[in-house]
Amino acid sequence: MARCQGRVVGYALTMRVNRSPYERPLAWIEAVGGLDLRNHDSQGEWMYGIDFVVDPTYRQRGIGTQLYQVRFALIRRLNLRGFYAGGMLRNYSHYAHCMTPVQYAEKVIQREVEDPTVTMQMNRGFAALGVIESYVKADNHPAMLIAWHNAAFRAARPAPVQRRVAEAQPALG
Ligand SMILES: CC(C)(COP(=O)(O)OP(=O)(O)OC[C@H]1O[C@@H](n2cnc3c(N)ncnc32)[C@H](O)[C@@H]1OP(=O)(O)O)[C@@H](O)C(=O)NCCC(=O)NCCS
Repeated sequence: MARCQGRVVGYALTMRVNRSPYERPLAWIEAVGGLDLRNHDSQGEWMYGIDFVVDPTYRQRGIGTQLYQVRFALIRRLNLRGFYAGGMLRNYSHYAHCMTPVQYAEKVIQREVEDPTVTMQMNRGFAALGVIESYVKADNHPAMLIAWHNAAFRAARPAPVQRRVAEAQPALG
């Protein structure tokens, strides 16, 4: 949550999931598991972006960047693999008369077109993995599947019981 003089001016909602960004991309409602966020898994290795918004009168002052920095710090602290989300292709509607979502997304990736949301996310270190054509089912709004990897992630060590069995094997032989 971002506050300015006691007023909430932005927020970022996230959940932990086990599904990786390299599995088949899902629409928002399926990714989160419905409005009660059933897909949250307290042991999940990935953080998923549920929602992220800054009050329009407070945009372009670095608040969104700070909200990402807080998310990235939390991911490092929890030793998660990274963060992913459907980044809304916010300005696609301005181009819908002349290109498909995939064509628009390609122009955003190539930096031929600036999208107020996805270009900002790419500038914050996110990789664009593909397009989810109907991410918000209510209005068929498309999104870019974006992912950020935690370079400091360390996979868990083998469970102690497995190590004990492995250590015991020479004596058995
Ligand atoms: C996407 C969104 C959250 C970004 O929030 P924001 O607070 O405007 O983000 P920032 O201010 O950190 O960055 C936006 C731009 O402002 C610029 N900026 C940041 N601080 C600035 C400052 N002090 N002065 C001038 N410009 C500044 C940044 O450089 C950035 O542009 P860049 O990507 O070219 O570097 C906001 O646009 C939003 O709420 N959009 C609608 C909802 C939405 O799309 N949410 C995301 C769903 S996936």
